[in-house]
Amino acid sequence: MSRSKHIVLGVTGSIAAYRAGDIIRRLQDKGFQVSVIMTKEAEKFITPLTLACLSGKEVFRDMFHGEQERSSMGHIELARTADCLLIAPATANTIAKLAHGFADDILTCVALATRAPLCIAPAMNDLMYQNPAVQENCAKLKKNGIKFVDPTKGKLACGVYGEGHLADVENIIESVVRLLHEK
Ligand SMILES: Cc1cc2nc3c(=O)[nH]c(=O)nc-3n(C[C@H](O)[C@H](O)[C@H](O)COP(=O)(O)O)c2cc1C
Repeated sequence: MSRSKHIVLGVTGSIAAYRAGDIIRRLQDKGFQVSVIMTKEAEKFITPLTLACLSGKEVFRDMFHGEQERSSMGHIELARTADCLLIAPATANTIAKLAHGFADDILTCVALATRAPLCIAPAMNDLMYQNPAVQENCAKLKKNGIKFVDPTKGKLACGVYGEGHLADVENIIESVVRLLHEK
């Protein structure tokens, strides 16, 4: 019997972080095993406890404490066993770090260390998203073969209508499934 695919979900400090719970559930409905990594800032928007309860596993939050301490190289193990790394929602900050090879938290370390395909679903204010720096970072990552599920137009948390809304969860899940087939 084939093992179920392992999706590592990275959650970053966006107001759309609350949608991570729905993403976990829909991935599980497809039969995937889900491990969650949260950035420090993501914890300001949704609690690790919520995502631990939904994923059924301890959440990876800190390079130097927690579950990963049990094996000295927890982040490398996570990178090695991932079939897909999905970052949803992805902030401008994390996208910038990925575009420039930064590795200052567990999420960016796993992103650098994995051979699994990466799927990024950005979410941010429309002006942030249009900023040339953000656009250049997205273009660079796309050029490097990273799959993006582009944000949609909608009412943003800041009250304006614009492009920056996290893509529909259904589209995000479909992109992950497609990436796994292409692998
Ligand atoms: C209320 C609030 C909402 C925010 N929403 C977003 C967002 O949707 N997208 C984004 O790129 N940054 C957003 N930010 C800024 C990020 O939280 C900030 O850049 C942070 O450093 C991101 O860290 P991370 O990428 O490590 O998670 C928001 C900040 C606040 C205070």
